[in-house]
Amino acid sequence: MARFIDELKRTHMCGDLRAEHIGKTVVLFGWVQSRRDHGGCIFVDLRDRTGVVQVVFDPSVSDGCFALGDAARNEWVLGIRAEVRGRGDMKNPRIATGDIEVVASEATVFNKSETPPFAIEDNVDTHEDKRLEYRYLDLRRPKLQKALIARSQMLRTTRQHFTDHGFLEVETPFLLKYTPGGARNFLVPSRHQPGSFYALAESPQLFKQLLMVGGYDRYFQIVRCFRDEDLRLDRQPEFTQIDVEMSFVNEDDIFGMIEGLLFKLFKDVLGVDLHEKYPSGHLPRMRFEESMRRFGNDKPDLRFGLEHHELTELVVQHDGGGIPFFEPIAKKFKSGTYRKDLPEEIVKAIVIPASANLSRADGDKLEHYVKGMGAGGLARAKIGESGTWTQSPLQKSVTDGMREAINRACNLQLGDVICFQFGPADKVHTIMANLRVHLAKRMGLIPESGSAGRYELLWITDPPLFERDEASKRWAAAHHPFTRPHDACLDLLEQDPGKVLCHRYDVVLNGFEIGGGSIRLHDPSVQARVFKAIGISDEEADQKFGFLLKALRLGAPPHGGIALGMDRLAMLLMDAEAIRDVIAFPKTQKGTDLMTGAPSPVNPEQLVELKISPIK
Ligand code: AMO
Repeated sequence: MARFIDELKRTHMCGDLRAEHIGKTVVLFGWVQSRRDHGGCIFVDLRDRTGVVQVVFDPSVSDGCFALGDAARNEWVLGIRAEVRGRGDMKNPRIATGDIEVVASEATVFNKSETPPFAIEDNVDTHEDKRLEYRYLDLRRPKLQKALIARSQMLRTTRQHFTDHGFLEVETPFLLKYTPGGARNFLVPSRHQPGSFYALAESPQLFKQLLMVGGYDRYFQIVRCFRDEDLRLDRQPEFTQIDVEMSFVNEDDIFGMIEGLLFKLFKDVLGVDLHEKYPSGHLPRMRFEESMRRFGNDKPDLRFGLEHHELTELVVQHDGGGIPFFEPIAKKFKSGTYRKDLPEEIVKAIVIPASANLSRADGDKLEHYVKGMGAGGLARAKIGESGTWTQSPLQKSVTDGMREAINRACNLQLGDVICFQFGPADKVHTIMANLRVHLAKRMGLIPESGSAGRYELLWITDPPLFERDEASKRWAAAHHPFTRPHDACLDLLEQDPGKVLCHRYDVVLNGFEIGGGSIRLHDPSVQARVFKAIGISDEEADQKFGFLLKALRLGAPPHGGIALGMDRLAMLLMDAEAIRDVIAFPKTQKGTDLMTGAPSPVNPEQLVELKISPIK
């Protein structure tokens, strides 16, 4: 063994060998991917993170090597010294090193391996729990290696981009004072101050703003964030943000800086030049209101159509048009309680084109799908000859005027199916947004990997500053209360808070929010009015955010920023099914680490030390 590593240093990585190396003697280290006995010679595919190469153990070259190759089994760790030779007409076009093979003249076993619990190859059907338990084995698979290599490139490109633009990388604390709002925090007990807790940072938000007050001008950090939220395919309890803050900027400046980064990331990681799609170098922008109206959410997937039709106004004009469910909404408007700008209840439709050939049974399945999201049902009609409505309970009661108006508004054609949702705006938007994506998947409207139109990016801008909290009947900050309202909306802070728009923005890729940020409120007098609008008194504000408010009164420059979700972006760039597939050591949906067994109980003495009483 001592000869390898000490004397025989690695000369090449397995996956890097090509025809140009023929005749060279190389030293390789790696794992046995597979072993075949071809009567006379043993063939081993030796793997490292760059790929595999075929190693021949030939007794006529070395008896010792042949015996070692004969004994070797999958996942053993070997070192070999070998000569590269061409494969003549036995080339293997399926692997990058397929033109050559190496013939071992010296070899060593660094370590044997027990039989692994699953084969180390892509497209394994082993249950994910098993793979997470043996994550270090799973990490040997080419797909995961590719993902982590791409992530490493993302980190390099990001650092280079911001360094080139005069940003400083500054670290901020993970153990923080708890501040309300935003995501739920993980809490960490303080041993020195029993009964008090730190919160783990859900983002460096307040600190990056304080760095601007400190005069640092341009900050970035690639930073871990912690959120105790319900997990989904695109969420992890600890995840990485590319976090940015800049002084003396407006939205255009921030957008430009992030667009520059995104264009470079696509180029460096995927070799995709986004200029072909966005020649100006800028991404399209859409106002929040338009996105909600056309797509039902603020992260539209623009790779396909199936846009929503907003029919509330039409329904009101027609007094419900004979459709019993619509009448209460029409009445509400008449009674003057309906707000067109802030509709509490709405009617929306989505059209499934005739080309989709939706059968009645398919329609029932869609209804089942929306009921799963809490919908009462999925009222629908199929368009017959001369614009009649068929196969629908609505067809008898709908007035001709209403039907014709809807047909026109939605441009309905023979064989199309129109599906309606009505009721509280939030619910209708959510159901219809999900239905849109569900239909696109079922109808095969989402382009395959690698095809044109595969990446659709955009900015969503100008959302409302506040949202209504129905439970408390109060306004609450939609994102956080330090977002700057539009100057033109300042008077509305007192008069009509729901109408106040703000300088907040999200960047969206293929229906996923990959980043979000805002221009911050640096004016203490407007800040006080915002707190008032959400019912936070001066004392309460001081108690919760006093340190930030004080800083804003001590010479805060105008500033703004953004954070990109690194993992989410990596997931989309790598075409991975879940965010777990681009994180080296992820948690399950339940927040557990199946490899180490975290979280785990601790012993009672540890709790005593923290003055925490164990649950009885
Ligand atoms: P926000 O909360 O929008 O903004 O987060 C920014 C981006 O981080 C990603 N993200 C997540 N990724 C994986 N798992 C999660 N649990 C998770 N939560 C969020 C998303 C999201 O767009 N401080 C502000 C930014 C700012 O205003 O500058 C913030 O954290 O891609």
